Amino acid sequence: MSIERPVDPSAISRRRFLASTARLSAGLAAAAYGASSLAFPRRALAGPIPDAVVELTCAAGTANVRAGALTNVWKYTGSLTSGPANTLATLNDSYLGPVFRLWNGQRLRVGLNNNLTEDTITHWHGIDAPAEDDGHPMYAVGAGGRYEYDFEIHNRAGTYWYHPHPDMRTAVQVQNGLAGVMIVHDDKEALLNLPSGEQDLVMVIQDRTFNASNQFVYQVRGMAGSYGDTILVNGKPNYTVSAATRPYRVRILNGSNSRIYKLGFSDGSPLYIIGTDGGLLTRPMKMPFAILGPGERLELWVDLRRYSVGQQLKLVNQPYTLTGPSIPLPQGSAFDIATFSIDRNETDTRQLPNYLAESYLDNVGFDEAYAVNALNPRVINITNSGGHWRFNGLSFTMMGYEPWEIVSKVGPEIWEFVNTASNAQAHPMHLHGPQFRVLSRSLAPGWEASYETVKDGFVDRGLKDTVMVWPGETVRILSHPPTYSGLFMYHCHNLEHEDMGMMRNFYVAP
Ligand code: C2O
Ligand code: CU
Ligand code: CU
Repeated sequence: MSIERPVDPSAISRRRFLASTARLSAGLAAAAYGASSLAFPRRALAGPIPDAVVELTCAAGTANVRAGALTNVWKYTGSLTSGPANTLATLNDSYLGPVFRLWNGQRLRVGLNNNLTEDTITHWHGIDAPAEDDGHPMYAVGAGGRYEYDFEIHNRAGTYWYHPHPDMRTAVQVQNGLAGVMIVHDDKEALLNLPSGEQDLVMVIQDRTFNASNQFVYQVRGMAGSYGDTILVNGKPNYTVSAATRPYRVRILNGSNSRIYKLGFSDGSPLYIIGTDGGLLTRPMKMPFAILGPGERLELWVDLRRYSVGQQLKLVNQPYTLTGPSIPLPQGSAFDIATFSIDRNETDTRQLPNYLAESYLDNVGFDEAYAVNALNPRVINITNSGGHWRFNGLSFTMMGYEPWEIVSKVGPEIWEFVNTASNAQAHPMHLHGPQFRVLSRSLAPGWEASYETVKDGFVDRGLKDTVMVWPGETVRILSHPPTYSGLFMYHCHNLEHEDMGMMRNFYVAP
Protein backbone atom coordinates (compact mmCIF):
# COMPACT_ATOMS: atom_id res chain seq x y z
CA MET A 1 0.00 0.00 0.00
CA SER A 2 1.26 3.45 -0.71
CA ILE A 3 -0.20 6.73 0.40
CA GLU A 4 -0.18 9.71 -1.92
CA ARG A 5 -0.38 13.00 -0.14
CA PRO A 6 -2.32 15.58 -2.13
CA VAL A 7 -0.17 18.57 -2.97
CA ASP A 8 -1.48 21.86 -1.74
CA PRO A 9 -1.25 23.85 -4.98
CA SER A 10 -1.49 27.19 -3.22
CA ALA A 11 1.61 26.36 -1.20
CA ILE A 12 3.59 25.74 -4.34
CA SER A 13 2.36 28.63 -6.44
CA ARG A 14 3.05 31.02 -3.59
CA ARG A 15 6.71 30.15 -3.90
CA ARG A 16 7.19 29.23 -7.51
CA PHE A 17 7.61 32.04 -9.96
CA LEU A 18 7.30 31.44 -13.66
CA ALA A 19 10.15 32.08 -16.02
CA SER A 20 8.59 35.37 -17.05
CA THR A 21 9.35 36.87 -13.66
CA ALA A 22 12.79 35.35 -13.36
CA ARG A 23 15.64 37.67 -12.58
CA LEU A 24 18.49 37.77 -15.04
CA SER A 25 21.24 38.07 -12.51
CA ALA A 26 21.74 38.35 -8.82
CA GLY A 27 22.66 41.99 -9.19
CA LEU A 28 19.51 42.84 -11.10
CA ALA A 29 17.48 40.86 -8.66
CA ALA A 30 18.86 42.78 -5.74
CA ALA A 31 18.12 46.05 -7.48
CA ALA A 32 14.59 44.97 -8.31
CA TYR A 33 14.01 43.77 -4.83
CA GLY A 34 12.82 46.83 -3.06
CA ALA A 35 10.59 47.74 -5.97
CA SER A 36 8.80 44.41 -6.10
CA SER A 37 5.88 43.92 -3.80
CA LEU A 38 5.76 40.25 -4.77
CA ALA A 39 9.08 39.34 -3.30
CA PHE A 40 9.11 38.54 0.40
CA PRO A 41 6.23 40.45 1.89
CA ARG A 42 7.53 41.44 5.30
CA ARG A 43 6.41 39.83 8.52
CA ALA A 44 7.29 41.02 11.99
CA LEU A 45 10.91 40.39 12.92
CA ALA A 46 11.44 37.12 14.74
CA GLY A 47 13.91 38.42 17.25
CA PRO A 48 16.69 40.83 17.98
CA ILE A 49 18.84 39.71 15.07
CA PRO A 50 17.92 41.34 11.76
CA ASP A 51 16.68 39.04 9.02
CA ALA A 52 19.21 38.00 6.45
CA VAL A 53 17.73 38.46 2.99
CA VAL A 54 19.78 36.91 0.22
CA GLU A 55 19.53 36.46 -3.53
CA LEU A 56 21.16 33.18 -4.52
CA THR A 57 21.63 32.34 -8.17
CA CYS A 58 22.78 29.10 -9.77
CA ALA A 59 24.32 29.45 -13.18
CA ALA A 60 27.01 28.08 -15.44
CA GLY A 61 30.36 29.82 -15.15
CA THR A 62 34.07 29.17 -14.99
CA ALA A 63 36.52 28.73 -12.16
CA ASN A 64 40.23 28.81 -11.74
CA VAL A 65 40.77 25.31 -10.35
CA ARG A 66 44.16 24.22 -11.73
CA ALA A 67 46.97 25.95 -13.55
CA GLY A 68 46.11 26.49 -17.20
CA ALA A 69 42.66 26.61 -18.71
CA LEU A 70 39.68 27.67 -16.63
CA THR A 71 37.23 24.89 -15.70
CA ASN A 72 33.59 25.09 -16.70
CA VAL A 73 31.49 24.80 -13.56
CA TRP A 74 28.03 25.47 -12.22
CA LYS A 75 28.10 27.74 -9.24
CA TYR A 76 26.03 29.56 -6.69
CA THR A 77 26.56 33.29 -6.40
CA GLY A 78 24.95 35.33 -3.69
CA SER A 79 24.15 38.89 -2.90
CA LEU A 80 22.92 40.32 0.36
CA THR A 81 19.76 42.38 0.06
CA SER A 82 19.59 43.20 3.75
CA GLY A 83 20.93 41.90 7.02
CA PRO A 84 24.27 41.87 8.82
CA ALA A 85 27.11 42.76 6.45
CA ASN A 86 29.06 39.57 7.25
CA THR A 87 26.17 37.26 6.30
CA LEU A 88 27.88 36.19 3.06
CA ALA A 89 31.56 35.57 2.44
CA THR A 90 33.16 34.24 -0.69
CA LEU A 91 35.68 31.44 -0.46
CA ASN A 92 38.76 32.75 -2.21
CA ASP A 93 38.47 32.25 -5.91
CA SER A 94 36.48 29.02 -5.58
CA TYR A 95 33.59 27.52 -7.53
CA LEU A 96 31.87 26.86 -4.20
CA GLY A 97 28.96 29.09 -3.25
CA PRO A 98 29.16 31.86 -0.67
CA VAL A 99 29.62 30.91 2.99
CA PHE A 100 26.52 31.94 4.96
CA ARG A 101 27.09 33.18 8.50
CA LEU A 102 23.84 33.05 10.47
CA TRP A 103 22.65 33.29 14.05
CA ASN A 104 20.41 31.03 16.02
CA GLY A 105 17.08 32.90 16.20
CA GLN A 106 17.63 34.70 12.91
CA ARG A 107 15.20 34.58 10.01
CA LEU A 108 16.73 33.70 6.69
CA ARG A 109 14.99 34.61 3.48
CA VAL A 110 16.49 33.42 0.22
CA GLY A 111 15.35 34.02 -3.33
CA LEU A 112 16.78 31.16 -5.37
CA ASN A 113 17.16 32.07 -9.03
CA ASN A 114 17.58 29.14 -11.38
CA ASN A 115 19.72 30.32 -14.27
CA LEU A 116 20.64 26.76 -15.24
CA THR A 117 19.12 25.02 -18.23
CA GLU A 118 17.39 22.38 -16.09
CA ASP A 119 15.29 22.07 -12.93
CA THR A 120 16.83 22.69 -9.55
CA ILE A 121 15.95 23.32 -5.92
CA THR A 122 18.28 23.95 -2.98
CA HIS A 123 18.31 22.03 0.30
CA TRP A 124 19.83 23.39 3.53
CA HIS A 125 21.53 20.26 4.79
CA GLY A 126 21.29 19.84 8.57
CA ILE A 127 19.09 22.88 9.07
CA ASP A 128 15.71 22.15 10.63
CA ALA A 129 13.38 24.01 8.26
CA PRO A 130 9.67 23.68 7.40
CA ALA A 131 8.86 21.14 4.66
CA GLU A 132 8.30 23.78 1.98
CA ASP A 133 11.65 25.42 2.80
CA ASP A 134 13.60 22.17 2.91
CA GLY A 135 14.28 21.69 -0.79
CA HIS A 136 12.12 18.63 -1.43
CA PRO A 137 12.38 17.75 -5.15
CA MET A 138 8.64 18.39 -5.58
CA TYR A 139 9.49 22.09 -5.29
CA ALA A 140 12.09 22.07 -8.06
CA VAL A 141 11.81 25.08 -10.35
CA GLY A 142 12.53 25.02 -14.06
CA ALA A 143 15.13 26.98 -15.99
CA GLY A 144 14.60 30.68 -15.38
CA GLY A 145 12.42 29.96 -12.37
CA ARG A 146 12.60 31.26 -8.84
CA TYR A 147 11.81 29.86 -5.41
CA GLU A 148 11.48 31.83 -2.19
CA TYR A 149 12.50 30.46 1.17
CA ASP A 150 11.66 32.02 4.50
CA PHE A 151 12.50 30.24 7.73
CA GLU A 152 14.00 30.72 11.16
CA ILE A 153 17.35 29.25 12.12
CA HIS A 154 17.14 27.34 15.36
CA ASN A 155 20.02 24.90 14.98
CA ARG A 156 22.87 25.10 17.45
CA ALA A 157 26.17 26.73 16.55
CA GLY A 158 27.86 24.61 13.96
CA THR A 159 28.67 23.86 10.34
CA TYR A 160 25.92 23.05 7.88
CA TRP A 161 25.75 23.20 4.11
CA TYR A 162 23.53 23.64 1.10
CA HIS A 163 23.33 21.91 -2.24
CA PRO A 164 20.83 21.12 -5.01
CA HIS A 165 18.20 18.42 -4.44
CA PRO A 166 16.23 17.86 -7.68
CA ASP A 167 15.07 14.32 -8.36
CA MET A 168 17.78 12.28 -10.16
CA ARG A 169 20.01 15.31 -10.87
CA THR A 170 21.52 16.03 -7.43
CA ALA A 171 24.77 14.16 -8.10
CA VAL A 172 25.42 15.87 -11.44
CA GLN A 173 24.64 19.33 -10.11
CA VAL A 174 26.89 18.93 -7.07
CA GLN A 175 29.61 17.41 -9.24
CA ASN A 176 29.42 20.46 -11.50
CA GLY A 177 30.16 22.66 -8.50
CA LEU A 178 26.89 23.59 -6.80
CA ALA A 179 27.47 23.49 -3.03
CA GLY A 180 28.23 25.88 -0.21
CA VAL A 181 28.73 26.07 3.56
CA MET A 182 26.43 27.58 6.19
CA ILE A 183 27.83 28.53 9.57
CA VAL A 184 25.48 29.05 12.49
CA HIS A 185 26.53 30.93 15.61
CA ASP A 186 24.79 31.26 18.94
CA ASP A 187 25.25 33.29 22.11
CA LYS A 188 26.64 30.42 24.18
CA GLU A 189 29.27 29.67 21.59
CA ALA A 190 30.33 33.30 21.64
CA LEU A 191 31.29 32.93 25.33
CA LEU A 192 33.74 30.10 24.56
CA ASN A 193 36.21 32.36 22.83
CA LEU A 194 36.99 29.71 20.22
CA PRO A 195 39.40 30.69 17.44
CA SER A 196 37.65 33.10 15.09
CA GLY A 197 38.38 35.27 12.08
CA GLU A 198 41.45 33.99 10.28
CA GLN A 199 41.72 31.17 12.81
CA ASP A 200 38.27 29.83 11.88
CA LEU A 201 38.76 27.79 8.70
CA VAL A 202 36.38 26.05 6.34
CA MET A 203 37.59 23.03 4.38
CA VAL A 204 35.24 21.41 1.88
CA ILE A 205 36.76 18.17 0.61
CA GLN A 206 35.75 16.96 -2.86
CA ASP A 207 37.29 14.70 -5.48
CA ARG A 208 37.23 15.38 -9.19
CA THR A 209 38.78 14.00 -12.36
CA PHE A 210 40.06 16.36 -15.06
CA ASN A 211 40.65 15.91 -18.76
CA ALA A 212 43.65 17.37 -20.59
CA SER A 213 41.90 20.73 -20.98
CA ASN A 214 41.12 21.02 -17.26
CA GLN A 215 37.45 20.10 -17.55
CA PHE A 216 35.63 17.88 -15.04
CA VAL A 217 35.13 14.31 -16.17
CA TYR A 218 32.14 12.65 -14.55
CA GLN A 219 32.00 8.88 -14.56
CA VAL A 220 29.56 6.78 -12.54
CA ARG A 221 30.99 3.41 -11.52
CA GLY A 222 27.94 1.17 -11.63
CA MET A 223 26.35 0.89 -8.21
CA ALA A 224 29.41 2.34 -6.44
CA GLY A 225 29.02 6.02 -7.31
CA SER A 226 31.59 8.43 -8.75
CA TYR A 227 35.20 9.01 -7.71
CA GLY A 228 37.70 11.63 -8.79
CA ASP A 229 41.45 11.07 -8.81
CA THR A 230 42.27 14.60 -7.63
CA ILE A 231 41.44 15.82 -4.14
CA LEU A 232 40.21 19.41 -3.95
CA VAL A 233 39.74 21.50 -0.83
CA ASN A 234 37.53 24.55 -1.32
CA GLY A 235 37.80 23.91 -5.04
CA LYS A 236 41.63 23.78 -5.20
CA PRO A 237 44.13 20.92 -5.47
CA ASN A 238 47.18 20.80 -3.11
CA TYR A 239 45.33 23.05 -0.70
CA THR A 240 47.73 24.89 1.60
CA VAL A 241 46.94 27.18 4.51
CA SER A 242 49.54 29.71 5.49
CA ALA A 243 49.28 29.32 9.25
CA ALA A 244 50.61 30.85 12.47
CA THR A 245 51.67 29.16 15.69
CA ARG A 246 48.14 29.38 17.06
CA PRO A 247 45.12 27.14 17.62
CA TYR A 248 42.65 26.88 14.74
CA ARG A 249 39.03 25.90 14.49
CA VAL A 250 38.75 23.84 11.31
CA ARG A 251 35.31 23.08 9.92
CA ILE A 252 35.51 20.10 7.58
CA LEU A 253 32.75 19.07 5.19
CA ASN A 254 32.92 15.97 3.04
CA GLY A 255 31.24 17.47 -0.04
CA SER A 256 32.26 14.56 -2.27
CA ASN A 257 29.62 12.60 -4.17
CA SER A 258 30.76 9.13 -3.02
CA ARG A 259 34.24 9.15 -1.51
CA ILE A 260 34.71 8.31 2.18
CA TYR A 261 37.70 9.76 4.05
CA LYS A 262 39.64 8.40 7.02
CA LEU A 263 41.04 11.68 8.28
CA GLY A 264 44.25 11.84 10.24
CA PHE A 265 47.41 13.90 10.58
CA SER A 266 50.69 13.23 8.80
CA ASP A 267 52.68 13.21 12.05
CA GLY A 268 50.33 10.76 13.75
CA SER A 269 48.97 13.31 16.19
CA PRO A 270 45.37 12.69 17.28
CA LEU A 271 42.31 14.64 16.22
CA TYR A 272 40.61 16.87 18.78
CA ILE A 273 37.01 16.95 17.64
CA ILE A 274 34.85 19.78 18.96
CA GLY A 275 31.82 19.50 16.69
CA THR A 276 29.90 17.16 14.44
CA ASP A 277 27.00 17.51 11.96
CA GLY A 278 24.69 19.15 14.47
CA GLY A 279 27.20 21.56 16.00
CA LEU A 280 29.42 21.71 19.05
CA LEU A 281 29.90 18.63 21.21
CA THR A 282 29.41 18.81 24.96
CA ARG A 283 33.08 17.96 25.45
CA PRO A 284 35.95 17.63 22.99
CA MET A 285 36.78 14.09 21.84
CA LYS A 286 40.27 12.82 21.16
CA MET A 287 40.41 10.29 18.34
CA PRO A 288 43.22 8.59 16.41
CA PHE A 289 41.43 9.29 13.10
CA ALA A 290 37.90 9.99 11.94
CA ILE A 291 35.73 8.49 9.22
CA LEU A 292 33.89 11.17 7.24
CA GLY A 293 31.29 10.03 4.72
CA PRO A 294 29.66 12.25 2.08
CA GLY A 295 27.52 14.93 3.74
CA GLU A 296 29.13 14.63 7.19
CA ARG A 297 30.95 17.45 8.99
CA LEU A 298 33.54 17.64 11.73
CA GLU A 299 34.99 20.57 13.57
CA LEU A 300 38.56 20.19 14.80
CA TRP A 301 40.66 22.10 17.25
CA VAL A 302 44.06 22.13 15.53
CA ASP A 303 46.75 23.49 17.82
CA LEU A 304 49.79 24.60 15.81
CA ARG A 305 51.66 26.04 18.82
CA ARG A 306 53.78 22.92 19.17
CA TYR A 307 55.25 23.37 15.69
CA SER A 308 57.92 25.80 14.67
CA VAL A 309 58.10 28.12 11.73
CA GLY A 310 59.08 26.20 8.61
CA GLN A 311 57.28 23.00 9.59
CA GLN A 312 54.25 21.54 7.86
CA LEU A 313 51.34 19.52 9.16
CA LYS A 314 49.23 17.63 6.66
CA LEU A 315 45.66 16.48 6.91
CA VAL A 316 45.76 13.11 5.19
CA ASN A 317 43.62 10.18 4.17
CA GLN A 318 44.78 7.10 6.08
CA PRO A 319 44.55 3.66 4.51
CA TYR A 320 41.50 1.49 5.10
CA THR A 321 39.99 -1.55 3.45
CA LEU A 322 36.73 -1.43 1.52
CA THR A 323 35.76 -3.46 -1.51
CA GLY A 324 35.06 -1.10 -4.36
CA PRO A 325 35.52 -0.36 -8.02
CA SER A 326 39.02 -0.26 -9.43
CA ILE A 327 39.62 3.44 -9.83
CA PRO A 328 42.77 5.54 -10.21
CA LEU A 329 42.78 6.73 -6.57
CA PRO A 330 41.21 3.83 -4.63
CA GLN A 331 39.04 4.88 -1.68
CA GLY A 332 41.18 3.45 1.07
CA SER A 333 44.54 4.58 -0.31
CA ALA A 334 46.87 7.02 1.42
CA PHE A 335 46.91 10.57 0.07
CA ASP A 336 47.28 14.15 1.25
CA ILE A 337 44.23 16.34 1.63
CA ALA A 338 45.48 19.72 2.89
CA THR A 339 48.66 21.24 4.29
CA PHE A 340 49.13 23.66 7.17
CA SER A 341 52.32 25.50 6.39
CA ILE A 342 53.48 27.09 9.63
CA ASP A 343 55.16 30.25 8.49
CA ARG A 344 54.94 32.78 11.32
CA ASN A 345 55.07 33.08 15.08
CA GLU A 346 52.08 34.61 16.80
CA THR A 347 51.02 34.55 20.42
CA ASP A 348 47.70 33.04 21.37
CA THR A 349 46.97 31.83 24.90
CA ARG A 350 43.55 30.27 24.30
CA GLN A 351 42.97 26.81 25.73
CA LEU A 352 40.69 24.13 24.41
CA PRO A 353 37.57 24.38 26.61
CA ASN A 354 36.60 21.24 28.54
CA TYR A 355 32.97 22.08 28.13
CA LEU A 356 31.64 23.34 24.81
CA ALA A 357 27.86 23.13 24.71
CA GLU A 358 24.95 21.77 26.66
CA SER A 359 24.39 18.07 26.26
CA TYR A 360 21.65 16.97 23.89
CA LEU A 361 20.70 14.64 26.75
CA ASP A 362 19.52 17.73 28.60
CA ASN A 363 16.79 17.94 25.99
CA VAL A 364 13.96 16.33 27.92
CA GLY A 365 12.56 13.39 26.04
CA PHE A 366 15.44 12.99 23.59
CA ASP A 367 16.34 9.72 25.20
CA GLU A 368 15.92 6.14 24.05
CA ALA A 369 13.68 5.50 27.06
CA TYR A 370 11.11 7.86 25.57
CA ALA A 371 11.08 6.33 22.10
CA VAL A 372 7.48 5.96 20.96
CA ASN A 373 8.38 2.89 18.91
CA ALA A 374 10.75 1.25 21.39
CA LEU A 375 8.92 -2.08 21.06
CA ASN A 376 8.75 -1.91 17.28
CA PRO A 377 11.64 0.13 15.85
CA ARG A 378 11.50 1.36 12.25
CA VAL A 379 13.73 -1.10 10.41
CA ILE A 380 15.22 0.04 7.11
CA ASN A 381 16.88 -2.82 5.27
CA ILE A 382 19.34 -1.65 2.67
CA THR A 383 18.55 -3.84 -0.31
CA ASN A 384 19.34 -3.90 -3.97
CA SER A 385 17.60 -5.20 -7.01
CA GLY A 386 17.61 -4.37 -10.68
CA GLY A 387 20.97 -2.64 -10.32
CA HIS A 388 19.59 -0.07 -7.84
CA TRP A 389 20.04 0.42 -4.12
CA ARG A 390 16.72 0.56 -2.29
CA PHE A 391 15.15 0.69 1.16
CA ASN A 392 13.06 -2.35 2.07
CA GLY A 393 12.90 -3.07 -1.65
CA LEU A 394 11.45 0.35 -2.54
CA SER A 395 12.74 3.31 -4.53
CA PHE A 396 11.86 6.98 -4.32
CA THR A 397 8.57 8.23 -5.69
CA MET A 398 7.89 11.95 -5.54
CA MET A 399 4.97 11.97 -3.11
CA GLY A 400 4.82 8.37 -1.93
CA TYR A 401 5.36 6.96 1.54
CA GLU A 402 4.34 3.79 3.31
CA PRO A 403 2.58 3.39 6.67
CA TRP A 404 5.95 2.59 8.25
CA GLU A 405 7.29 5.92 6.98
CA ILE A 406 4.89 8.02 9.04
CA VAL A 407 6.89 9.73 11.78
CA SER A 408 5.36 10.75 15.08
CA LYS A 409 5.61 14.22 16.56
CA VAL A 410 4.87 12.76 19.98
CA GLY A 411 8.35 11.57 20.87
CA PRO A 412 11.66 10.37 19.47
CA GLU A 413 11.77 7.22 17.37
CA ILE A 414 14.31 4.47 16.86
CA TRP A 415 15.40 3.75 13.31
CA GLU A 416 17.53 0.71 12.48
CA PHE A 417 19.55 0.68 9.28
CA VAL A 418 20.53 -2.87 8.36
CA ASN A 419 23.33 -3.22 5.82
CA THR A 420 23.87 -6.94 5.42
CA ALA A 421 22.68 -7.60 1.86
CA SER A 422 25.20 -9.45 -0.29
CA ASN A 423 27.79 -7.18 -1.91
CA ALA A 424 27.00 -4.53 0.69
CA GLN A 425 28.63 -1.13 0.25
CA ALA A 426 29.12 1.65 2.78
CA HIS A 427 26.09 3.97 2.92
CA PRO A 428 26.06 7.37 4.68
CA MET A 429 22.41 7.58 5.80
CA HIS A 430 20.92 11.06 6.05
CA LEU A 431 17.65 12.31 7.51
CA HIS A 432 16.13 15.71 6.80
CA GLY A 433 14.54 17.53 9.73
CA PRO A 434 16.01 17.77 13.23
CA GLN A 435 19.35 16.23 14.11
CA PHE A 436 19.41 12.71 15.55
CA ARG A 437 21.59 10.69 17.95
CA VAL A 438 23.49 7.52 17.16
CA LEU A 439 22.46 4.85 19.70
CA SER A 440 24.47 1.78 18.75
CA ARG A 441 26.29 -0.20 16.10
CA SER A 442 26.58 -3.94 15.71
CA LEU A 443 28.35 -6.03 13.12
CA ALA A 444 27.14 -9.29 11.61
CA PRO A 445 29.76 -12.06 11.57
CA GLY A 446 31.90 -12.31 8.47
CA TRP A 447 32.34 -8.57 7.84
CA GLU A 448 35.21 -7.94 10.27
CA ALA A 449 38.12 -7.47 7.88
CA SER A 450 37.04 -4.13 6.47
CA TYR A 451 35.37 -2.99 9.68
CA GLU A 452 38.52 -3.36 11.77
CA THR A 453 40.23 -0.71 9.63
CA VAL A 454 37.61 1.98 10.29
CA LYS A 455 35.64 1.21 13.45
CA ASP A 456 37.73 3.38 15.79
CA GLY A 457 36.97 6.40 13.60
CA PHE A 458 33.19 6.70 13.83
CA VAL A 459 32.27 9.95 15.53
CA ASP A 460 28.96 8.92 17.05
CA ARG A 461 28.64 11.50 19.80
CA GLY A 462 26.73 14.73 19.59
CA LEU A 463 24.03 15.56 17.11
CA LYS A 464 24.13 14.00 13.67
CA ASP A 465 22.17 14.27 10.45
CA THR A 466 24.21 11.71 8.51
CA VAL A 467 25.55 8.43 9.86
CA MET A 468 27.89 6.02 8.14
CA VAL A 469 26.53 2.48 7.91
CA TRP A 470 29.43 0.17 7.06
CA PRO A 471 29.03 -3.17 5.24
CA GLY A 472 27.75 -5.75 7.71
CA GLU A 473 26.48 -3.18 10.20
CA THR A 474 23.20 -2.50 11.87
CA VAL A 475 23.15 1.08 13.11
CA ARG A 476 20.44 2.31 15.47
CA ILE A 477 19.62 5.99 15.76
CA LEU A 478 17.12 8.03 17.76
CA SER A 479 15.35 10.66 15.69
CA HIS A 480 14.28 13.82 17.42
CA PRO A 481 10.54 14.54 17.35
CA PRO A 482 9.96 16.64 14.22
CA THR A 483 9.47 20.37 14.54
CA TYR A 484 7.44 20.67 11.34
CA SER A 485 4.78 18.65 9.53
CA GLY A 486 4.84 17.53 5.95
CA LEU A 487 6.94 15.43 3.62
CA PHE A 488 10.65 15.12 4.37
CA MET A 489 13.21 12.73 3.07
CA TYR A 490 15.75 10.21 4.18
CA HIS A 491 18.33 8.92 1.79
CA CYS A 492 21.84 7.67 1.25
CA HIS A 493 24.21 10.63 0.82
CA ASN A 494 26.28 8.81 -1.73
CA LEU A 495 24.74 11.13 -4.29
CA GLU A 496 24.65 8.58 -7.10
CA HIS A 497 22.82 6.21 -4.73
CA GLU A 498 20.37 8.98 -3.86
CA ASP A 499 19.72 9.68 -7.54
CA MET A 500 19.18 6.00 -8.36
CA GLY A 501 16.32 6.02 -5.87
CA MET A 502 18.02 5.19 -2.54
CA MET A 503 15.79 7.87 -1.07
CA ARG A 504 12.31 7.82 0.41
CA ASN A 505 9.85 10.26 1.93
CA PHE A 506 8.79 10.21 5.52
CA TYR A 507 5.60 11.97 6.45
CA VAL A 508 5.00 13.97 9.59
CA ALA A 509 1.29 14.44 10.23
CA PRO A 510 0.19 17.87 11.49
CU1 C2O B 1 22.61 16.83 1.84
CU2 C2O B 1 18.87 15.37 1.24
O1 C2O B 1 20.77 16.07 1.48
CU1 CU C 1 19.88 17.15 4.10
CU1 CU D 1 24.42 4.38 -0.50
